[in-house]
Amino acid sequence: MIQLFYPYVPEEAITEVVDTLKSRWIGQGIKVDKFEQEFATRFNQSYSVFLNSGSSALETAFDLLGLVNGDEVISTPLTCTATNIPLLRKKVKIIWADINPTTLCIDKNDILKKITGRTKAIVNVHLGGIDNNLGEMPVPVVSDACQSLGIVFLSSQRLLFLEKEEMALCQRA
Ligand SMILES: Cc1ncc(COP(=O)(O)O)c(C=O)c1O
Repeated sequence: MIQLFYPYVPEEAITEVVDTLKSRWIGQGIKVDKFEQEFATRFNQSYSVFLNSGSSALETAFDLLGLVNGDEVISTPLTCTATNIPLLRKKVKIIWADINPTTLCIDKNDILKKITGRTKAIVNVHLGGIDNNLGEMPVPVVSDACQSLGIVFLSSQRLLFLEKEEMALCQRA
């Protein structure tokens, strides 16, 4: 097998996990509260809410939009299957938009061509850490940032990454 990459796990993160397991607060608790607060501060937000996985976060976002059978959502096929599976579960009609050949992310111009009165949302996947800023859209945009935690939106499309340690911590959240 050819190993392309391996996850970076700093020693402090291992210590934190062991501490947490020993504390018995292995679900919601003080560590989660602290992490949510620090994460929000790091990204200049008033609060953040953590779930157990990216799949749960997507499911929750689609629930909050109140999507029902027959609604249309514009999405991209070039992503992890977890992005679109919750839409299939809700029997939402997925309208595929093309990708931008440079970024491999969903293409803004193709989205605009495919928006109709039935479009309830757009799913924007920031693939592989790409900042795919769509700007203003006429319907809600769900950002799948599972591969891009730590990037910061900048109009210049430049990417800013967190320090390596912080990034590793975020990925495990
Ligand atoms: C783009 C994208 N969306 C969603 C997911 C699902 O995230 P999770 O495995 O945390 O449920 C992944 C996982 O790699 C992903 O890469």
